[in-house]
Amino acid sequence: MFITHPDIEKYLLSLSKEEDPVLNQMEEYGHSINFPIIDRLVGRLLFVLTKIKKPKLVVELGSGFGYSAYWFAKALENDGKVVVVDYKEENIQKAKDFFEKGGVLNKAVFEVGDAVKVAKKYQDIDILFMDLEKSRYLEAFKEVEPNLSKDAVIIADNTLWSGKVLQENLDSQTRGLKEFTEYMFKNPDYYTSLVPLRDGVLIAVRL
Ligand SMILES: C[S@@+](CC[C@H](N)C(=O)[O-])C[C@H]1O[C@@H](n2cnc3c(N)ncnc32)[C@H](O)[C@@H]1O
Repeated sequence: MFITHPDIEKYLLSLSKEEDPVLNQMEEYGHSINFPIIDRLVGRLLFVLTKIKKPKLVVELGSGFGYSAYWFAKALENDGKVVVVDYKEENIQKAKDFFEKGGVLNKAVFEVGDAVKVAKKYQDIDILFMDLEKSRYLEAFKEVEPNLSKDAVIIADNTLWSGKVLQENLDSQTRGLKEFTEYMFKNPDYYTSLVPLRDGVLIAVRL
């Protein structure tokens, strides 16, 4: 199921031209190997949110080869940093190469390993970006919550999961996403919105 009407998506993409050659290379690379990057429209949303929030510390849970992190890095100001984490060493090496080409290496810290374990090493996370295994969203959030800053922003990708959240019989990934989403909407410590852009982007702010 398309979340956004394909014609609307085309229109939004036509408005969203990018001059940065590294960003374009990353997209070409991601598409060529069918890697599930957040893609251009959600990337621009991350950029806007980062400019508004002006975080000192962004932590990603699941960075792949660094496409989403690159958007954060481009929007970070002063000494702001994004922690780029993936299980796979080869993904992190690729991310380093792209960040170097794009001149934003100084905006990032690169880590290989389980993203939840890595995130727990950091304090005062201003933006937590979640794009790890879908069945683990809620557990991961609860584990990292003590490490969030007092007015943290949480951004979680794929929270509409191609519309599968509407089905009756849910697989473990869809169930995980739905449990996390409902938990966030009901949680009085956060104010939560879900933007139906691309595959659904949940955005929550700690109150
Ligand atoms: C959807 S992709 C990330 C895409 C990336 N956020 C982007 O938009 O450019 C998910 C990535 O997270 C990694 N991953 C999933 N669960 C993880 C975990 N618990 N710890 C570390 N990496 C994880 C996978 O290896 C994969 O590269």
